[in-house]
Amino acid sequence: MCSLCSFLKSTIGRKILMALSGLALVLFILGHVLGNLQIYLGAHFINEYAYHLHSLPAVVMWGVRLSLLGIIGVHIWAAVSLTLDNRRARPEAYDAKANVQKSFASGAMRWSGVVLGLFIIFHIFHFTVRNVPGSEYEDQIADVALVKHGHDVYNGADKVMVFNVNDMMVAGFQVWWVSAFYIVAMALLSIHLSHGVSSMFQSMGLRNQLWRKRLDRFAVAYAVVVFLGFASIPAGVLAGVLTQSNPEGNAVKASVEVVSEVIVEEIIQK
Ligand code: HEM
Repeated sequence: MCSLCSFLKSTIGRKILMALSGLALVLFILGHVLGNLQIYLGAHFINEYAYHLHSLPAVVMWGVRLSLLGIIGVHIWAAVSLTLDNRRARPEAYDAKANVQKSFASGAMRWSGVVLGLFIIFHIFHFTVRNVPGSEYEDQIADVALVKHGHDVYNGADKVMVFNVNDMMVAGFQVWWVSAFYIVAMALLSIHLSHGVSSMFQSMGLRNQLWRKRLDRFAVAYAVVVFLGFASIPAGVLAGVLTQSNPEGNAVKASVEVVSEVIVEEIIQK
């Protein structure tokens, strides 16, 4: 058997893959929460940040997106195959008291992982593809001028216009059930991270008796920061702390879109 195949077949090999893919996701989540928190600096900051991300060369952007997808795929594959192996090796239910805590943690990892997978699918349709029914932000949110250091940015004589990510997020979270879903998903994400980050160190052989408590505390602290950072955004919108920067422009764009849809429907019927 090839050495990669035997590595993938071995429990330790799959645990290492799960830890490394988990580490990549932990870093992505940290970057994503820090990026999103710029919404508190003002609409210009978050819009400029999103504009720069979207201005990356297509190869880089798609390279990152596909790598992320691959990493999530590897993480799920390793989790499912290790769980199945575990069940095969120990088909009878846990009964020893010592195992109750462990089985609760691994059970929580499984169902929080499933809900997070569903959350990510919804989230990409919501904010990246922007075509969740009723939340077609591409048609509802008007572009705004790109502002840097307090001044509009020009390309020759024309103002550079950018998608208003600030107003999209605010519009998205003004729908109470969307905000509730995000907050619940973020709570599950933090449960997943608090256990996952500390097992990641264990799988990579970096957790000994001395460091165990410190690493567990670090994992919990990281999970709490991620929860507060992400959940504060929908909570901030519902509390009215975060608001749209261009409500009139968005209303005009949405009504133009409705009128043009009606015209297209009438033409089709004729
Ligand atoms: C309140 C929490 C969150 C907010 C406000 C948020 C916000 C956003 C926004 C605005 C985008 C679109 C960026 C753009 O196209 O300009 C985005 C994309 C994305 N988010 Fe989140 N996010 C949140 C939580 C999460 C979590 C917890 C994860 C993963 C565990 C995640 C994963 C992603 C991914 C994979 C993308 C697609 C990136 C791409 O376009 O390539 N997000 N998020």
